[in-house]
Amino acid sequence: MDKKLYTIILAAGEGKRMNSDIPKVFHPIGGLPMIEYVLRRAIDLSSDKIIVVVGVGKEIIMDYVAKRYEDAIFVHQTKQLGTADAVKATASELADLDGDVLILNGDVPLIKHTLLKDFYEQYKQSGASLGFISAKLDNPEGYGRVVKRAGKYKIVEENDADEKTKQIKEINAGIYLVSSKLLFHALEKVKPSGATGEYYLTDIIDIIQSMKKKVFNFHTDEADQIIGINNRKALAYSERVLNQRKLNRLMSAGVTIFDPETTYIEQDVTIGKDSIVYPNSFIMNGTKIGKRCIIWNGVIIKDSKLNDGVEVKPYSIIEQSIIGKEAVVGPFARLRPETVLDDNVHVGNFVEIKKSSLGKGTKANHLSYIGDATIGSKVNIGAGTITCNYDGFKKNPTVIEDEAFVGSDTILVAPVRIGRGAITGAASAITKDVPQGALGIERSEQRNIEGYAMKRKSKLGNK
Ligand code: UD1
Ligand code: CA
Repeated sequence: MDKKLYTIILAAGEGKRMNSDIPKVFHPIGGLPMIEYVLRRAIDLSSDKIIVVVGVGKEIIMDYVAKRYEDAIFVHQTKQLGTADAVKATASELADLDGDVLILNGDVPLIKHTLLKDFYEQYKQSGASLGFISAKLDNPEGYGRVVKRAGKYKIVEENDADEKTKQIKEINAGIYLVSSKLLFHALEKVKPSGATGEYYLTDIIDIIQSMKKKVFNFHTDEADQIIGINNRKALAYSERVLNQRKLNRLMSAGVTIFDPETTYIEQDVTIGKDSIVYPNSFIMNGTKIGKRCIIWNGVIIKDSKLNDGVEVKPYSIIEQSIIGKEAVVGPFARLRPETVLDDNVHVGNFVEIKKSSLGKGTKANHLSYIGDATIGSKVNIGAGTITCNYDGFKKNPTVIEDEAFVGSDTILVAPVRIGRGAITGAASAITKDVPQGALGIERSEQRNIEGYAMKRKSKLGNK
């Protein structure tokens, strides 16, 4: 039988180089906190236990992780004395167990399952007591360097490295597999660094070799997978890597991405076949887009569901909304939370909708505000129609029944109901319900003054 696999995720550090009030591993990339990716990798490898070491900002991290990964165990590192000290904190959970321990840095989120799986398999075959991943970087600054001498490995941290060691481009990825029995013995022997006073986990490589145990080095050429995010520059770079990966996956699945350089799609978004996404669009997590949809330039969509064949014209913003089949939205439309558009609805330019539903085939094509409204099917909302949903104290509902025709510039003072097939006269301020099939009109009669224009001209022109 296979040995058990226990995964430790190191997430207690402050991340000084981020210069942030948020703990480093909680910074989002691709719309998800960094640590989320590391947790997913632990799950992918079927870890028998997942232990997250928390310290700085632990409340926010624990809250997030506990809600999504019920089985995750938290271990507290009270003082951030270094990565070796962080791993030592897990002794209460692991020291008595016999198995392999996978140690992942919470700030190395771009690693893929396939790479970790290869590493795990080769480590098991190697018969080594410890395995670590390394890669060659053009700019190795900030990473621990892998020094290899007489078949033995030693990791030298940037702060402790002399000029010659700093020239080494092979770096330590911060990902290890180690036999649990040996791990805690080795940790006992780690001494604080002369340069920083920290206890380095990397020292166990040297220690385990001096215990006459074998160490396995897994080299990867895929440097992008082992980027450690220590500062905002690395954060931005990682964002780019993840985004390109996501776009590649979507393109393979049959989505046209017009310009991958300027399109941002967060990791958990889904898009159906033969949909097209034009440049400068930003599609955020929680969004599901159906087949044959067209997302034009500059569109922002968050937390929404678009059914098949929806077209979103340029510069529209859609949040927490549901859009029915073949509906058309925009340009310059704003759908705020709890908007539900049924099939074939048309929402045009400068229309804002909030917490409202529009039935099949209803049109609101120009310059409107619709809030807290329930609108039936085949309704026409004329240009400039406004629901006055707020009376200064509370929000009031508007109901517009099927096939009603709301004239341009109608002011609907809620609570109010427009009956089935009813009409409102243009520019009316509707404060009372309009019964089914009736005309609701509220405006003063027009007066024409004959010859006024000529008289005015001669009066002003004689001055
Ligand atoms: C570490 C490695 C370095 C490697 C690099 C890869 C050490 C000593 N160095 O350096 O060889 O090249 O990762 O990215 O391990 N943490 C704790 N408690 C602590 C200190 C850190 O939980 O007391 C956590 C951090 O939250 C972070 C991880 O450990 O997730 C790594 O710590 P960090 O300070 O970023 O290490 P690096 O300097 O990047
Ligand atoms: Ca780091």
